[in-house]
Amino acid sequence: MTDLTAPRKFRWPQPLHGEKPRIWYGGDYNPDQWPEEVWDDDIRLMKKAKISVVSVAIFSWAKIEPREGVFDFGWLDRIIAKLGTNGIATDLATATASPPMWLTQAHPEVLWKDEYGNTCWPGARQHWRPTSPVFREYALTLCRAMAEHYKDNPYVIAWHINNEYGCHNRFDYSDDAERAFQQWCKNRYHTIDALNTAWGTAFWAQQMTDFSEVILPKFIGSGNFMNPGKLLDFKRFCSDALKEFYIAERTAVERICPDKPFTTNFMISAPQQLADYSTWRDEVDFVSNDHYFTPGQAHLDELAYSASLTSGIARKNPWWLMENSPSSVNWRPINYRKESGELIRDAVAHVAMGADAINFFQWRQSRSGAEKFHSAMLPHAGENSQIFHDICKLGEDLDKLSNEGLLNTHPVKAKVAVVFDYESEWATEHTTTPTQQARHWTEPLLWFRALADNGITADIIPIRDDWDTYEAAVLPSVYILSAQASQRVRGYVENGGKLFVTCYSGISDECDHIWLGGYPGSISDVVGVRSEEFSPMGSDFPGTPSRIDLSNGTSAHTIADVITSTADTAQIVASYESEPWTGMDGIPAVTINTFGDGKAAYIGCRMDQTDLTKTLKALLEKMGITAPEGSSKDILKISRASEENGAIFDFLFNRTHSPVTISVNGEIVIASRIDLGEDDAADNSVGRTIDILPNGMAVIRR
Ligand code: GLA
Ligand code: GLA
Repeated sequence: MTDLTAPRKFRWPQPLHGEKPRIWYGGDYNPDQWPEEVWDDDIRLMKKAKISVVSVAIFSWAKIEPREGVFDFGWLDRIIAKLGTNGIATDLATATASPPMWLTQAHPEVLWKDEYGNTCWPGARQHWRPTSPVFREYALTLCRAMAEHYKDNPYVIAWHINNEYGCHNRFDYSDDAERAFQQWCKNRYHTIDALNTAWGTAFWAQQMTDFSEVILPKFIGSGNFMNPGKLLDFKRFCSDALKEFYIAERTAVERICPDKPFTTNFMISAPQQLADYSTWRDEVDFVSNDHYFTPGQAHLDELAYSASLTSGIARKNPWWLMENSPSSVNWRPINYRKESGELIRDAVAHVAMGADAINFFQWRQSRSGAEKFHSAMLPHAGENSQIFHDICKLGEDLDKLSNEGLLNTHPVKAKVAVVFDYESEWATEHTTTPTQQARHWTEPLLWFRALADNGITADIIPIRDDWDTYEAAVLPSVYILSAQASQRVRGYVENGGKLFVTCYSGISDECDHIWLGGYPGSISDVVGVRSEEFSPMGSDFPGTPSRIDLSNGTSAHTIADVITSTADTAQIVASYESEPWTGMDGIPAVTINTFGDGKAAYIGCRMDQTDLTKTLKALLEKMGITAPEGSSKDILKISRASEENGAIFDFLFNRTHSPVTISVNGEIVIASRIDLGEDDAADNSVGRTIDILPNGMAVIRR
């Protein structure tokens, strides 16, 4: 009997019988939303595109269980067999993401409630409570029925548990949730006094005498302010409650069918922080992620940033891109299409960051429903379309990479780690901070981009992971630093680490209690500065300061520290230049402190990307951190290497909208949107030059 409590080892979906391991390639497939006559055409085109896997039954509860306890697997058996006999594997979902009408009609108590007590009614999806014992019973019954029926199916290579937990039901304020939150608080704090201390309930007479007095952060009247400690814990609770529900569903399947690996699709991207996936990743056999592009200038950088964080969360094991879009999505106010070349470039960028599976939402574009305008691999226009053409080209490229040995490689460790912390983001979301314009999430991305502007591709690392094993590390507005984390920072620099810390870091402990004595309270000795106050900036009132100049020719915005003392070991690199009456003139803005064997740079303000790139260039020099040879600000370079045979695959992506010339120091394995110039295409000689065009990429093995 499998020990279901043992820490999970990494397990990756295995190829169908007789097939070789390849980069898995496919997408969400909803055959039950089409007449069966369409299925053969789907398979014909999937084979044309070299599709090897599809995720099926994600939203099929009503078709699988049309009435309570009546299961119809016929259609699903037929399509899984049809796919399988054509060499296309199935990543099978538990179908529990969206309950059928008969369930919610019979049990409206499973519907979640918002902070005003309003019910979330059926009509969309994910209208269920993660903490509802009634919903759980129905969901687990379906999980068991699916497991029983498909446990021996040779074409099912993995379980896709539910879908994007918390995407629409993250915050539930129902009675079920309140009871669960009370229990969660008890498990975390044990005594009501400890909870009162953690939430600082002496403030505004909020003391509680028993855990039954714990209530959810419901509506408190607009313009009033929620207890920050409670709100932070509520966000932790919501992440844990969803995770706990995932574990229950996974366990229900695993008890019957332990042999196939389990995953659930995370939503890791720069602007999204609805669950702390660094606490979920040990509950999946392989990490999978859904990523949707950020339109405009930040497109590639944000994608690479998110893929790097996903790889970090996956502990640098291969991970599965479960969803991305071929072109436009449907859920933004304006759903921009992808530019020429971006479909292929984006997918290959995920591979560069360690994804050994590339999947899209979805295979065939819907004719009806809320997502009919969401792009798909096979658009409304059919197979004779640029999108489908690119999907086929990508299939060839991924095949080529598989044939050329990419699967035995792992992302090469970067020189610099940029730390990301879900809890710091959650704490900076509160409405009574120095400025609501200053959040955590924007800063790790900004630093990733400014480092890339200096030719360095950083690794994005969750705060609990090994950022202190890197040559250099960045703490970008990591607002929460526990005593333990602060000690790690101290140890890292003392032992020779090169650290960059920005304003709004090390402000509070894990209960959002401020470290006293001046900012950054918990590590001011390490960075060698002490700030007495924040100087927020903005233009919501006439005459308020929106920017302040620095002596290095850059400027600060949004928030700056009022640094009133620096350690003797600290060098002032730049100061503010402004009218004396501002109280900021001459105040240190950027410093470097020597601490033990290491150095800690402090950037006491927020800057635009251009200004940060400039400031960073000088700091990198002073800190003795050099960009890898041959790197450039116009090319995002990401490498994967094989420990086995030492082969290195360099993935080169054009970061600009102009052609960029590169010298080829190896064999071009795949490329898109490149100009080989006069040279003969077959000439693979080292040192030749090629142009990578806008949205282009080249993968070079050396
Ligand atoms: C009001 C209240 C005080 C405090 C201040 C904050 O004036 O009376 O308790 O909340 O606002 O500005
Ligand atoms: C999510 C969901 C999919 C689909 C896409 C649309 O990622 O998992 O079912 O709704 O978004 O972008």
